[in-house]
Amino acid sequence: RIFKRQMQCRMDIDRLNAPFLSIYDSLIPTEEEKAKQKQLFTLLERLVTKEWPEARLYIYGSCGNSFGVSKSDIDLCLAIDEANINKSEFLLRLADILQSDNLQNVQALTRARVPIVKLMDPVTGISCDICINNVLAVINTKLLRDYAKIDARLRQLAFIVKHWAKSRGVNETYHGTLSSYAYVLMCIHFLQHRRPAILPCLQGMQTTYSVTVENVECSFFDQVDKLRDFGSHNKEPIARLVWGFFNYWAYSHDYANFVISVRTGSLISKREKDWTRRVGNDRHLICIEDPFEISHDLGRVVDKYSIKVLREEFERAADIMQYDANPCVKLFEPYVP
Ligand code: CTP
Ligand code: MG
Repeated sequence: RIFKRQMQCRMDIDRLNAPFLSIYDSLIPTEEEKAKQKQLFTLLERLVTKEWPEARLYIYGSCGNSFGVSKSDIDLCLAIDEANINKSEFLLRLADILQSDNLQNVQALTRARVPIVKLMDPVTGISCDICINNVLAVINTKLLRDYAKIDARLRQLAFIVKHWAKSRGVNETYHGTLSSYAYVLMCIHFLQHRRPAILPCLQGMQTTYSVTVENVECSFFDQVDKLRDFGSHNKEPIARLVWGFFNYWAYSHDYANFVISVRTGSLISKREKDWTRRVGNDRHLICIEDPFEISHDLGRVVDKYSIKVLREEFERAADIMQYDANPCVKLFEPYVP
């Protein structure tokens, strides 16, 4: 009887595959939008290299890592030898140049925690932030993009999780909840842990790509075309993974003792990282190790109030997946305080 009930449960969950996939499809940016992003990037690259021939412009964040939903802003990083520049003056000069090329709402935010130039392109309607020398972000963007090429289910799961997090108001680091980057790492970790595994651990494999940035050695296996079949032994479709993801964070994860680590493809102990107590503002209530800056806990923004909010949202989502008649609607209902 138990077996029969389990089968029943699986079939129930599987009826949600089609609606989840159509939500995923509706979030993907169109080819037209991608082309507009590219057009804006090319324009900015031309303006920047005309003024500073040795500078390079890179895309990072969701437009570069393939986890960007439609209408995302573009995150750009301008790489330049910092020895010769004063960052604030540089950003002001950059803002001047962009302004005089008909770009709109150009603003240099020189006092922000991460100083940037913001702008909007009136031709494409796309907004964009340019920061200086955040090269580690460019590398972690490549890592995420490479993971996404291995198995289509990562992108499906991450889009749905990000959409859920935005709808429920738990994708706001300034309110103590998690960044999109953290949610994507949580999805990668989860798929590395399915049995059979759906994703490998690229940093644990032979090095085919290696760069050293800010004294951090970033190396991993990036010939991901060779890994296209990696997850094929696991046939779980998207609805079961969404169910499993929320269940993991609602009822299985040991928050008190473990750190999720995409770098090692495993859980590591909080004690080993000395993340068992509050240090300064870092409380380590949910621990997500950055794959390259391994002293960075991406959960450091979470405080004793927001951890409760987060865990209640994971439980709500898990319970909806289990019991609700119409999870694909209920899951994404906007949070109303
Ligand atoms: N990033 C990082 N360390 C963090 C947060 C972000 O290195 N603690 C970098 C990552 O390269 C990430 C990028 O900044 O891809 C943008 O972060 P975020 O806004 O969280 O993610 P996006 O993928 O741009 O998501 P969204 O679609 O919500 O804009
Ligand atoms: Mg972004």
